[in-house]
Amino acid sequence: MNVRIALTGFGNVGQGLATLLRDRNELYERRYGVRFTLTGVRDRSGAVTDPHGLDFAALLHAKSEQGTVAAGANDMERDVPTFLEASQAQILVEAASTNYVDAEPGWSYVLGAIDRGMDVVVASKGSLALHWNELMGAAKAAGRHVLYSATVGSPVPSLQLAERVLVGADILGFEGILNATSHQILTAMSQGASYAEGVRQAQEMGMAETDPTLDVDGWDAAAKVLIVANAVFGSSLRLDDVRRQGIRGVGAQELERAREANEVIKLIGRARLVDGKVVASVAPEQRSLDDPLGRLRGDAMGIVFDTEPLGRMAATDEPAGGYGGGVTTAMTVIRDLINLARDRGWTRPPTA
Ligand SMILES: NC(=O)c1ccc[n+]([C@@H]2O[C@H](COP(=O)([O-])OP(=O)(O)OC[C@H]3O[C@@H](n4cnc5c(N)ncnc54)[C@H](OP(=O)(O)O)[C@@H]3O)[C@@H](O)[C@H]2O)c1
Repeated sequence: MNVRIALTGFGNVGQGLATLLRDRNELYERRYGVRFTLTGVRDRSGAVTDPHGLDFAALLHAKSEQGTVAAGANDMERDVPTFLEASQAQILVEAASTNYVDAEPGWSYVLGAIDRGMDVVVASKGSLALHWNELMGAAKAAGRHVLYSATVGSPVPSLQLAERVLVGADILGFEGILNATSHQILTAMSQGASYAEGVRQAQEMGMAETDPTLDVDGWDAAAKVLIVANAVFGSSLRLDDVRRQGIRGVGAQELERAREANEVIKLIGRARLVDGKVVASVAPEQRSLDDPLGRLRGDAMGIVFDTEPLGRMAATDEPAGGYGGGVTTAMTVIRDLINLARDRGWTRPPTA
């Protein structure tokens, strides 16, 4: 079956998605009987739509040559309802820049898509961090799916572990290294770099933004804690509910003390049920080297759930290298797309 997708944001993740679908659609068709078509793509400069499917290579070429997918396109298609209508898509993939002030532009597209009866896969965190209750309420009322694996430290399968694997157990809490950029900086600092050198290295590696505030001050990790906590505990945390301390204040003495104890400093995000309430935080902590999070290096991420009666269950990644962050995240978007297609009955059952 052909599944039509409207995509907002054509940066690392959006282009990663187009590249993967260009290269892997045949495989998905053979394996699952489903083919994904991009029928609308929006970037900052405008939008392009075709309900019969846009050409992946042409989109990537236009973006690299002209800086936009939308050169010469009808300007009206910028408008949310017009864009969604023109795309005739069944699913919105929201991968525009994350914004923790008003969650735009993603929020208008997400609400507009649910309004039109579309399912939604989000990679950007703004809508979830600022509008969790409203979003989940709207999706439930409309009978629509909202999937968001890519928002919580992809490709680590945090949500799948909690929701599918630990489904019969009680989750008491979780802790994780949820932000790759601050982890990379802390790893460099634990090897002797200053904070400024660590940031510069992460920028040279293409990981840290020119302004690294969202990563180093713990905003990104706090949003991920909020999303996992709300998904797992059914809570309605907002960003302000997560106590937050970033890595700017981690000093040479603290790092040296950890080294002398054969331990390391990690930025840990956690949430826990305390007397029936969710308590959530992000802060640097000293961890032993044989701890499942303490042993992670570089830009690796991971999460550990504390459960009854199974004890601690961990999921971690060891980035393979060679893929940019956008492609890795786009693979997680594809995970959601295939699972969504399965849930909707759009895939072919496996054949013997
Ligand atoms: N990169 C990762 O590994 C990763 C991992 C997990 C989650 N995410 C999230 O996924 C999203 C995309 O990440 P990314 O790395 O692809 O970011 P990016 O490279 O900065 O791309 C952002 C895209 O959003 C578009 N955009 C920004 N403001 C817009 C507006 N007002 N209207 C329409 N389009 C707008 C940009 O348009 P232009 O191209 O015209 O500038 C660009 O195409 C972000 O929310 C990020 O937090 C990323």
